Amino acid sequence: MIVITGATGNVGRPLVQSLIAVGEDVVPVSRRGEGHQVDLTKPETLKPVLDGAKAVFLLTSADFMAGGNLQDVIDVVRSAGVPRVVLLSSQGVGSKRHPSLHEDAVTGSGLDWTILRPGNFASNAFQWADSVRTQRAMAAPFADVALPTVDPADIAEVAASALRGSDKAGVSHTGAIHTLTGPVAISPREQARVIETAVGQPVQFTELSREEARAGMIRFMPEPVVEATLDVLGAPTAAEQAVSPDVEKVLGRQPRTFADWVTRNAAAFR
Ligand SMILES: NC(=O)c1ccc[n+]([C@@H]2O[C@H](COP(=O)([O-])OP(=O)(O)OC[C@H]3O[C@@H](n4cnc5c(N)ncnc54)[C@H](OP(=O)(O)O)[C@@H]3O)[C@@H](O)[C@H]2O)c1
Repeated sequence: MIVITGATGNVGRPLVQSLIAVGEDVVPVSRRGEGHQVDLTKPETLKPVLDGAKAVFLLTSADFMAGGNLQDVIDVVRSAGVPRVVLLSSQGVGSKRHPSLHEDAVTGSGLDWTILRPGNFASNAFQWADSVRTQRAMAAPFADVALPTVDPADIAEVAASALRGSDKAGVSHTGAIHTLTGPVAISPREQARVIETAVGQPVQFTELSREEARAGMIRFMPEPVVEATLDVLGAPTAAEQAVSPDVEKVLGRQPRTFADWVTRNAAAFR
């Protein structure tokens, strides 16, 4: 049995589906979802679902970062005798934009671990869904700075492979850090054109200043995360703009494109 935290989110939802599709027994958890109700800021709430688990997928949300301690969560997982954890981290840890606290808790746990470091999610484009639907318009900062946006469904498939310990020639999950990106870097202006094609009508694109973008993001993200995110979007390092080979190494196929993600989620923009 495999326990999936963040089970109702962009990554958790397809992850639960991927595991069920290959016949795994899955326990989805979140605070308010249909699965088991667990609040990771109260790690003891995780205990009842860990009995007999062979692996746990750990996802820390912005809410968790405000009041949670991953070390306490790991302690609960270890005490329950679960041998394997897969942590959803961020490429920003590798480029020293975010603290490595959560990764340190996992790498120092004594458990079999895998760390996933995705770049910018394709699903961040949901932020434009309302304005595209109602005004056929979208706005973003750093209009022409391209990043290799990753599809959460690819993150989920890599996570599923790591949770099952599906090693194969050239890919070992235990003690591995996988950097996950899409197949090509794409800018916000180019993303607007992809969305326009899916909608089948013109979508007006406006470039925001950094200050305008910050004012919007600060409503749903802690301030240090906003600043680090704006730094990546505006002045990515060469490594952050590079396409990583890791999705293809693990899945044996090219990563999905931003257009693939938009096609699957077109209803949100129409
Ligand atoms: N977006 C990006 O570009 C990007 C890039 C790199 C890394 N990441 C990382 O990806 C993660 C976000 O993944 P996502 O987009 O799949 O998340 P998401 O769609 O925002 O979903 C968050 C999930 O976590 C659950 N959750 C939130 N707080 C919780 C708590 N205290 N206890 C238990 N469950 C909780 C939510 O359900 P409930 O609300 O019902 O609890 C939901 O299932 C973050 O760790 C972020 O740092 C994101």
